[in-house]
Amino acid sequence: TKKILLFCDPGIDDSIAIMYSILDPNIELVGIVTSYGNITRDKSTANAAYLVHLAGRSDIPIIPGATKPVQEEHVTFYPEIHGEDGLGPIEVPRDFRFSIYPFDTIRFIIEKYKNELIIVDTGRSTSLATAFILYPDQMKMVQSFYVMGGAFFMPGNITALAEANFYGDPASSNLVTQFAHNLTITPLNATQHAILTQEFVNTISQNKNNVYASLIEPIFKYYQEFYKKTNPGIQGAPIHDLLTVMVVNNPTLVDYIHYDAKVIEGTTEAKGMSYVDCRPTSKKGKTKIAIKLHYNEFIKELSNILLR
Ligand code: BDR
Ligand code: CA
Repeated sequence: TKKILLFCDPGIDDSIAIMYSILDPNIELVGIVTSYGNITRDKSTANAAYLVHLAGRSDIPIIPGATKPVQEEHVTFYPEIHGEDGLGPIEVPRDFRFSIYPFDTIRFIIEKYKNELIIVDTGRSTSLATAFILYPDQMKMVQSFYVMGGAFFMPGNITALAEANFYGDPASSNLVTQFAHNLTITPLNATQHAILTQEFVNTISQNKNNVYASLIEPIFKYYQEFYKKTNPGIQGAPIHDLLTVMVVNNPTLVDYIHYDAKVIEGTTEAKGMSYVDCRPTSKKGKTKIAIKLHYNEFIKELSNILLR
């Protein structure tokens, strides 16, 4: 089994990624670091705690991370995509109580699992960048990194040029893309095709073995409404973060190019834009960037886990 420490901002697609990680017997989720992004840090923390609780997995440590990017004071949230509290129409019960762990727990988790540990980041890059700054020696022990972010040679989803995770804190994204070894990035190029349809989600919600059966339908429906409005003609909605987690155990779901990713910092129109130096004379990089998804294989693998 793959031991995954997940950095995220649940958020609907992050939540589906959490569900998948809990349900896949080939994944052991060893911790969740929650950050600002789709919603506030505290809301994403409560959502992550609630999701693990629903599966009877409150043993998974929930570690609150960053509340804002390194260089900006103001943070924009996305209630129109993920709902006011991050789970579409679902509200975490008011009296729901949970334990949280200090940020330093990241260091202990790495020391415990060493080169068996895989770090996946499906949120803004701030918390992961912070871990590189605080625990440089431990971070070297980690086996590999998987990051959802960027859009290469194509439009972004938050501006014409930028994808949301890399736009949120480009300085931290650059730090992560530079420092992370064995790095795989799943940008929009691949994730925008990782589409679930209402029909597929209905099948999941009828699967009585799936502890998330009654939750997945309403949250997906909410999320899909946004995509219907913004991408007329699209059937269903892309679950970006889910693909990022799936690629850990299923690397052949996507095709890669090998370059080092860079992100534009600052406050110009190009903020958060991701690019690679692919001039004929430039050297290939060491980062694997997923640029194409094999859709049928994706659905097949997903069915194996969510419909079992
Ligand atoms: C990414 O941005 C977030 O808002 C989503 O959860 C996903 O991680 C897609 O661009
Ligand atoms: Ca996310």
